[in-house]
Amino acid sequence: MAYGLLKGKKGIISGALNEQSIAWKAALKAVEEGAEIVLTNAPVSLRLGTINELAEQCNAPLIPADATSVEDLEKLVDGAMEHFGGKFDFVLHSIGMSPNVRKGRPYDDINYDYLGKTLDISAISLHKMLSVLYKKDALNEWGSVVALTYIAAQRTFDGYSDMADAKALLESITRSFGLKYGKERHVRINTISQSPTKTTAGSGIAGMQDMFAYADAMSPLGNATAADCADYITSMFSDLTRHVTMQNLYHDGGFSATGLTAEVVEAFTKGLKNE
Ligand SMILES: NC(=O)c1ccc[n+]([C@@H]2O[C@H](COP(=O)([O-])OP(=O)(O)OC[C@H]3O[C@@H](n4cnc5c(N)ncnc54)[C@H](O)[C@@H]3O)[C@@H](O)[C@H]2O)c1
Repeated sequence: MAYGLLKGKKGIISGALNEQSIAWKAALKAVEEGAEIVLTNAPVSLRLGTINELAEQCNAPLIPADATSVEDLEKLVDGAMEHFGGKFDFVLHSIGMSPNVRKGRPYDDINYDYLGKTLDISAISLHKMLSVLYKKDALNEWGSVVALTYIAAQRTFDGYSDMADAKALLESITRSFGLKYGKERHVRINTISQSPTKTTAGSGIAGMQDMFAYADAMSPLGNATAADCADYITSMFSDLTRHVTMQNLYHDGGFSATGLTAEVVEAFTKGLKNE
């Protein structure tokens, strides 16, 4: 059911690669709720994925931008302002990639050039995006920027490797830029810390299948899906959340506040008995 929560609002959605992507669902939801959007992704991802179909469905222009390139981001923001005829209201940063994870490098033996790339793509790109938006004064007052993160920024998860460090930096940038952007332009910046979700990026993490099942059993409400996440993102873009900023918002079915569940203990003790 649509509520018209984003009626009259305009924004950029990054990171939709294919139908599984969280950003794909967020784009559809934003349009369903009345928004006009511009889609973007890295040039290489445009070739690999199916974002053209989404652009058609959403009646949205597609502006390629490597999120690590300030020049590309400037073109993206200029292109969006031209398309919208002025300032806009929201941006979704849904971007993450670790060459160390992709190439299976263990955390105690990461390649430092790869680490630089992980941090640039998955965290510093948010700073670059915000900085371009700020300098071009591209966002309306009470605009909203959301970036997606994972609880490995707070607690260690085997296999998440240097993506954990990237997410910690991403969340820190959210607070640091949130202070300036909030004070001077009333723009809010938050991260949403999402449950494990079966997407291309999610599948790159070692043991994702088991991690997904464990998180589901540890969450009173079960794992939040990509579609659930799209709903939450929409609420954060809407006027109903105007005084929420610089927060890391857990969207994880209660996982982050749970120490133990009967299901997990039962599975664990069953495993011990079978040893
Ligand atoms: N899937 C999960 O379990 C999960 C959980 C919590 C948070 N997240 C986060 O959600 C976000 C979206 O990931 P997803 O799960 O939808 O997977 P996804 O693979 O569909 O999306 C990741 C996107 O990042 C884009 N990207 C990579 N390098 C880029 C670059 N240089 N410039 C621009 N874009 C680039 C990819 O093209 C892709 O569209 C990521 O930040 C991810 O870390 C995912």
